[in-house]
Amino acid sequence: MLSKEKNQLLTQVGPGTAGGEMLRRHWHPFAAVDELDQEPIKPVRLLGEDLVVYKDLSGNYGLTERQCAHRNADLAYGMVEAHGIRCNYHGWCYDASGQCIEQPFEDVIEPTGRMRKRVRITAYQVQAKAGLLWAYMGPLPAPLLPDWELLSFDNGFAQIVFADVPCNWVQAQENSIDPVHFEWMHSNWSKRQRGEVGNYAPRHVKLEFEEFEHGFVYKRVREDTDEAHNLWTVGRVCLWPNGFFLGDHFEWRVPVDDENTLSVTWAFLRVPHEAEPFKQTVIPSWRGPIKDPQTGKWISSHVINQDIIAWVGQGKITDRTREKLGASDQGVAMIRRRLFADMEDVQAGKDPKGVIRDPARNVRIPLPNASRELLQSGMPRATYIKHPVWGKHLTHFPFHYGQPEHVRQMVADVMGIKQDDVHVVAVNV
Ligand code: FES
Ligand SMILES: [Fe+2]
Repeated sequence: MLSKEKNQLLTQVGPGTAGGEMLRRHWHPFAAVDELDQEPIKPVRLLGEDLVVYKDLSGNYGLTERQCAHRNADLAYGMVEAHGIRCNYHGWCYDASGQCIEQPFEDVIEPTGRMRKRVRITAYQVQAKAGLLWAYMGPLPAPLLPDWELLSFDNGFAQIVFADVPCNWVQAQENSIDPVHFEWMHSNWSKRQRGEVGNYAPRHVKLEFEEFEHGFVYKRVREDTDEAHNLWTVGRVCLWPNGFFLGDHFEWRVPVDDENTLSVTWAFLRVPHEAEPFKQTVIPSWRGPIKDPQTGKWISSHVINQDIIAWVGQGKITDRTREKLGASDQGVAMIRRRLFADMEDVQAGKDPKGVIRDPARNVRIPLPNASRELLQSGMPRATYIKHPVWGKHLTHFPFHYGQPEHVRQMVADVMGIKQDDVHVVAVNV
């Protein structure tokens, strides 16, 4: 349970708030490379600020405030130029640093550009990596964009899924350190949705939470496993400060504002041996719907959709004054303590946990990963198709509802899946 004041402190993301300043010390994924290849300007809202991200005609990215400095026109309707973005109203043009570099009429009247040189809009750094665009909105010098090992594994097909979630980011991240919910929300509730009553999943009997350099690891023993099982020996990673790492995919809970979160999933599928060597040239991104327009209910068929039902169900900013934390919530308490400590560190002028500044330590950073061997070594297609977990992934994207047909087809082509194979997998499911 938290006081009202502490709950507010924990959940605020805007500029000048303790939480917002802490979050501004990290890089956040917020859009995809393929989105800007299709449309070079995209309005975005991040950490309570309205911005535009663009790819200019030279191929460079920029991220600036959304309103023109002249008379506040919307730069989302602007034009990209060789260097920077131009407002569609009177043609003022800004480079990636936010500096105004052209004022077409004023430049005629005053060729020295005295006024222009004084005009600047807010601009932030943006980097492309693994098909995602990442923003850094804090003080300079910016830390390094983390180079997680999975992002550059060979012979894999990655896809990116976004979902717009109408609640605060912290309740989404608390879900990243919550082992028992797998048993109920994903296993047992899925069974009930299929009409099965009883025959529930093995119960959790032991939990442990540990802090490490890049976040927290949680470990568990279920009735059907012991301490030799990778659920205990490796565990899963609550990635700092707003990520979740599950071996074959990342999830980030990116704060849009206090009451909205962008859910970003980056999922990797290893190709079978027969498809090697495979080099992916385009990482597709898509937006997953979370509500069924027919019924008005949240979609509950896929893993992250189920999680989202928990997050939004807790309220836009959940009321932590009325919660009753139990034995399974040790990890939740740990990450809250760390978030408060990080806010204090930032106020004291220090880097918070998880910031990386040493380039030598930012090379293919490994994270605890029970699937590493398998993802690296791969397997023949016939074995893959029959595999109890991975086989299903070949024809069914398990994490989010709404995978577009063209992405499903890309996966089938890369994996070399034929209609007959699909039948075999369908029997397995
Ligand atoms: S409002 Fe943008 S150029 Fe005038
Ligand atoms: Fe979950």
